[in-house]
Amino acid sequence: MTELTQNPSAGSASTDSTAGAKADHPMWSSRLAFILAASGSAVGLGNIWKFPYITGENGGGAFVLVYLLCIALIGIPIMAAEVMIGRRGGRSPINSMRQLASRDGLSKRWVWIGGMGMLASFLILSFYSVIGGWALSYVGNSAGGLFAGASADSIGAIFGNLLADPYTLLLWHSVFMVLVIMIVARGVSSGMEKAINILMPIMFGLLLVMVGYAMSTDSFGDGFKFLFSPDFSKLTTEGVLTALGHAFFTLSLGMGVMMAYGSYLPKNVSIVKTAVTVSMVDTAVALMAGLAIFPLVFANGMEAGAGPGLIFQTLPIAFGQMPGGVFFGTLFFILLVVAAVTSAISLLEPVVEWFEEQKGISRLKGALIGGISIWLLGITTILSLNVWSDVHPLAMFERFEGKTIFDLLDYVTANLMMPLGGLFIALFVGWFMSKQAAENELSIGNGVAFNLFMFVLRFITPAAVLVVFVYNLM
Ligand code: PFF
Repeated sequence: MTELTQNPSAGSASTDSTAGAKADHPMWSSRLAFILAASGSAVGLGNIWKFPYITGENGGGAFVLVYLLCIALIGIPIMAAEVMIGRRGGRSPINSMRQLASRDGLSKRWVWIGGMGMLASFLILSFYSVIGGWALSYVGNSAGGLFAGASADSIGAIFGNLLADPYTLLLWHSVFMVLVIMIVARGVSSGMEKAINILMPIMFGLLLVMVGYAMSTDSFGDGFKFLFSPDFSKLTTEGVLTALGHAFFTLSLGMGVMMAYGSYLPKNVSIVKTAVTVSMVDTAVALMAGLAIFPLVFANGMEAGAGPGLIFQTLPIAFGQMPGGVFFGTLFFILLVVAAVTSAISLLEPVVEWFEEQKGISRLKGALIGGISIWLLGITTILSLNVWSDVHPLAMFERFEGKTIFDLLDYVTANLMMPLGGLFIALFVGWFMSKQAAENELSIGNGVAFNLFMFVLRFITPAAVLVVFVYNLM
């Protein structure tokens, strides 16, 4: 248990309350604490920044449909599987895997799932922090009244100037990483969890305001149609892979984060219900972001496929025109930073935990070494946006032709590493882990529901991931 209390990414509040609560009143506070921690990791830049822009790049409705299917058929079962492994193992991801493998007499190699997840965390956080830096700089832009009454063109220019300036990007990337390192080094206090408890609903409310604003434009119908009316001629196989990868990215799956959180979940909480709740919160935020953004794209004659700058070029237009826009805009970007930080914490934590476990390094040192290495790697993303925008390291492969280092980091982690991690987690629970143990952990009541769940993990999830992979390789 000492190890658990030292593991704040899983929420030391939930740790404390879970540990203490197990005897007295476990159900409510712990389930809520878990949902908060897991939603804090899941809801982030993936929902508000990435989902709208990849939807725009992939033609809208058909892509969204595939994404929703991936969440329901693959994401939710894998989240449940990960949480179950964590709860049964009761330790950090690598040690939970080691524990379960040895308990069920399986190969030690299963531990590699944890290792790959850790590497993916490291790579993802390096660019995640740069984007978090964009959000930070937009807090200042908004508070300084830069968007008030500004045209779509001048707002586009603000974003263009930011990307062109490696020093400003470096400054904000550094501020973001310092924030994350500080929090992880100190341990996520219960105050932080309480803050998320308040901030997440505010963010939800603000997104509703933004959707309301989008509804007031003439183009709401166009935006709605773009998101929800599928045109399959626009869907490519790469789009399907992107949708699958994003389902993993947005739910923080395939890397052991949910295992770490699951290790704090009391036995009597329903894993499946909890996984469904977290996934629904996450999906709702993404769809709301899409509904807020696409009407503005069409109302201002912008390109839906504008790429990673999409939200930074659309939402400020709304803030610049609505009453109280400076206030709402500033608040919105602050909340975006908060959402990004809570996800980033869950990315740094596994790295720090590994340093602690393997190397006996203190938490502070681990956070510094891990954080600074990630910060350094992040500089390659910054340079990809300007000085190195023509550097395409894997140009010899047709698929990677125009991809910068930033694009490659994003592609390899979301489209390859996370789905592969998820595939192995599904295989582990579906085929290798003791079936009896799975039944006890899940206790979905009747055998039918359990068999259905196992069927999905055994066949549907692995087949879906494999088909998408193979299709893409061909
Ligand atoms: N789920 C986060 C988001 O949507 O922004 C990103 C993320 C966090 C991915 C933690 C993976 C992870 F382990």
